[in-house]
Amino acid sequence: MSKPNSNFIKLALVAAIVAIGVSLNWQSSFAASFIMQDLPPGKGVELANAKCVTCHEADLIMAQRLSKQGWTREVEKMIRWGASVNDAEKAVLVDYFSEHFAPRKAAPAVASTSADRGKLTFENKCLTCHEVDLIEQQRLGKPGWTREVEKMVRWGATVTDAEKEPLVEYLLKNYGPRPLMSKK
Ligand code: HEC
Ligand code: HEC
Repeated sequence: MSKPNSNFIKLALVAAIVAIGVSLNWQSSFAASFIMQDLPPGKGVELANAKCVTCHEADLIMAQRLSKQGWTREVEKMIRWGASVNDAEKAVLVDYFSEHFAPRKAAPAVASTSADRGKLTFENKCLTCHEVDLIEQQRLGKPGWTREVEKMVRWGATVTDAEKEPLVEYLLKNYGPRPLMSKK
């Protein structure tokens, strides 16, 4: 008697899980249609809507900015998580997402600006009281340059907290420990 019972419980559990799944699906596509944040039109959008806006809304996808490699990983992850996408569809989806949700142009610009900021801070704030030779004579590691900049700030250099890190990077890059002195 216990066997059919436990089978029944298993069946009921499976049914419950399926029901929850279906209702979650329904809820999220219901919500998506109200938020009206649709995927932008383009080649592959129908496939994306059919395959990717089923378990969650489009905004979860649109919040990402990934490279082609990143989108490939993301789509593969979703496949592992249950998205039914074959190889041909995968290629279309990856192309679609990487075309519309590529990393923002600002990302590399910020990185190079950080280096530029360090140089600028150096020129404007470190070469006011003394010449560059006083700095060139020093070969310091990161902690050393951090301490040196902090010392100069105490002595009157007007380096802000935000400027400090790029400046230290700049100093480290240009006046870091000489190769012979390092442990390499
Ligand atoms: C079987 C259900 C399912 C399908 C189909 C699905 N996803 Fe997801 N996805 C999830 C779950 C679960 C999460 C995590 C949700 C959360 O964090 O709220 C998620 C999260 C995401 C995220 C947020 C970043 C992350 O990795 O957590 C992105 C981007 C994403 N999915 C893209 C896609 C794309 C592109 C497709 C179509 C290939 C897709 N999803 C199809 C279940 C799915
Ligand atoms: C307000 C003036 C002032 C500013 C601005 C300034 N320094 Fe100096 N710095 C000094 C003085 C004074 C000395 C000591 C000079 C001497 O010994 O002849 C010095 C010396 C140094 C030395 C030699 C080592 C030492 O500690 O004596 C280094 C390296 C140095 N400064 C780096 C910097 C850097 C990097 C900046 C930018 C963050 C900076 N300084 C900005 C006043 C300043």
